[in-house]
Amino acid sequence: MTHRELRKKYLDFFLESPRNHQVIPSAPIIPENDPTTLFTSSGMQPLIPFLLGEKHPLGQRLTDSQKSFRAQDINEVGDNRHSTFFEMLGNWSLGDYFKNDQLRWFFTFLTKVLKLDPNKLYVTVYEGDQIVPKDTESVEIWKEIYASVGIDAKVVDSPSSNSGTSAKQGRIFLYPASKNWWSRSGEPEKMPPGEPGGPDSEVFFEFTQIPHDPKFGKQCHPNCECGHFLEIGNSVFMQYQKQADGTLTELPNKNVDFGGGLERLIAATENNPDIFQSDLFFPVIELLSRLSGKKYSDPINQPPMRIITDHLKAATFMLAEGLQPGNKQQGYILRRLIRRSVVKMHKLHLQCSTIEAGIQICQVIGQIYSNVYLYPETKEFSNITSTLSEEIKRFEQVLNKGIKLLEKQPVVDGKLAFDLLQTYGFPWELTAELALERGQKIDFGEFQKEFQKHQELSRNTSKGMFKGGLQNHSEVITRLHTATHLLQQTLRDILGDHVRQKGSNITVQRLRFDFTHPKKLTDQEILDIEKIVNLKIKENLRVNMSITELEQALKNSALTVPGVKYPAKVKVYSIGNFSKEVCGGPHVDFTGLLGKFKIIKEEAAGSNSRRIYATLI
Ligand code: ALA
Repeated sequence: MTHRELRKKYLDFFLESPRNHQVIPSAPIIPENDPTTLFTSSGMQPLIPFLLGEKHPLGQRLTDSQKSFRAQDINEVGDNRHSTFFEMLGNWSLGDYFKNDQLRWFFTFLTKVLKLDPNKLYVTVYEGDQIVPKDTESVEIWKEIYASVGIDAKVVDSPSSNSGTSAKQGRIFLYPASKNWWSRSGEPEKMPPGEPGGPDSEVFFEFTQIPHDPKFGKQCHPNCECGHFLEIGNSVFMQYQKQADGTLTELPNKNVDFGGGLERLIAATENNPDIFQSDLFFPVIELLSRLSGKKYSDPINQPPMRIITDHLKAATFMLAEGLQPGNKQQGYILRRLIRRSVVKMHKLHLQCSTIEAGIQICQVIGQIYSNVYLYPETKEFSNITSTLSEEIKRFEQVLNKGIKLLEKQPVVDGKLAFDLLQTYGFPWELTAELALERGQKIDFGEFQKEFQKHQELSRNTSKGMFKGGLQNHSEVITRLHTATHLLQQTLRDILGDHVRQKGSNITVQRLRFDFTHPKKLTDQEILDIEKIVNLKIKENLRVNMSITELEQALKNSALTVPGVKYPAKVKVYSIGNFSKEVCGGPHVDFTGLLGKFKIIKEEAAGSNSRRIYATLI
């Protein structure tokens, strides 16, 4: 099934009666105003405030297809089913329907709409522990569902590769929290304070043509890694929230958070376990075959072709959102994606330059997603290709420098390989390959030791982002968010109405606001801006929220962010008579709660735009 067909079938299914959902647009992959994560990695992420109890302007039943990116999967890409970029089809009940409707509807979608054979579908359910009991309700629902299609569904407790229970013996498999509990950080012990989560129930598709691989254990079962089963959907019963004291409490609502990977659902409808052969990837693979004269059917070419396709797809989306390659945070990941693709292009020995190939790939990706997310005809698209070419060019220079440096070294050891990686982004495989050409073998153990030391460091850094917990952070972030609205209106009052938001990013320390303006702000302008924002804080203006049609909001001159797609109904936040913006919130109730506003820095942010960093003290 084509991606356009499948996406539409899913959204239509949830729009139709009796499901009556509202479609919400995909949020960006680079989240705005959420400093706890670098990327949007699931459909629920932009909906967290609503899962925690805030009212959504479109009601309690929502559905979408969300662009998602999982940086932690970078090294998994290369096999037939992992990608860093994917689309998550999602549906949510915000305190409305629950397990019974959710499990039945998804099964109906799979078997009636996608026409998957129920005999190839297996499900998993949470087995429970001392704190959250076994999900017997879901087990009973699944039994009934299977009975309705003539399958007598047997339940298997805690299957494991070596326990002797094979898939053939059951239909409904009970697993512990490590497999059947979902939160952004995993099982309950790993959840930071404030984080929502809950037990889940997954559906797996069986690829009968792939026999179980004994390398992964004696017996096969849905969560076995051998590739016989593929997870195609996850219904999370999001009803708990982690507290600062480590306990779990019930959320105000019992929510459903469903997510299913579009790429994997297509693979199931085509009974083809290789997601890269779907129309979401294959046009790029074909282009790579043409440019390299190599066949995708040759297993040796598959990992590099898949890596280039996935990584440049993710990079294209990030570039389209205005991200620049860099040495920190998201920019660093973008750089890694591009560099890794270039290295793999060299491995394929393309018949054109890596820059030329990068541009062509980017164009094909634009065509794949045209009228879905990317619009190749827009000006942004030429910005994407020029930033991409620049970055590839820079890396090619680095590669050349690294090769020269390597040539000068009498011995290439693991430590040098790691230094090359650190300084030049010179990948291990490449160093090893070049060393081998000179008849030297590098000690991988030594390289790995250095690498692990470094990884631990970066892991701790990203953990640090979670440390204070969402609850403690969220108050600070809410205040900075309201301050951002005051700042935007003040900028428009002082500099003129050409000022529009281009980007916003908030961490617990500061806000960052990008806006259109042709020249550097003067010292006097900065002082005036601070003065007015602080005046508005002192006036202790009331912050009001109303839900209206988007059209009405625009008529009332509520500010929007140019280029962002909004749903038909939106929230409008007004601050006294001073500011009015379409925004998801949340915000403080009175500006008096903000404290003192201070601009830390003003700088350029690309052509015709400026960036302000500010904080509340
Ligand atoms: N949020 C759930 C997931 O990402 C649905 O699997």
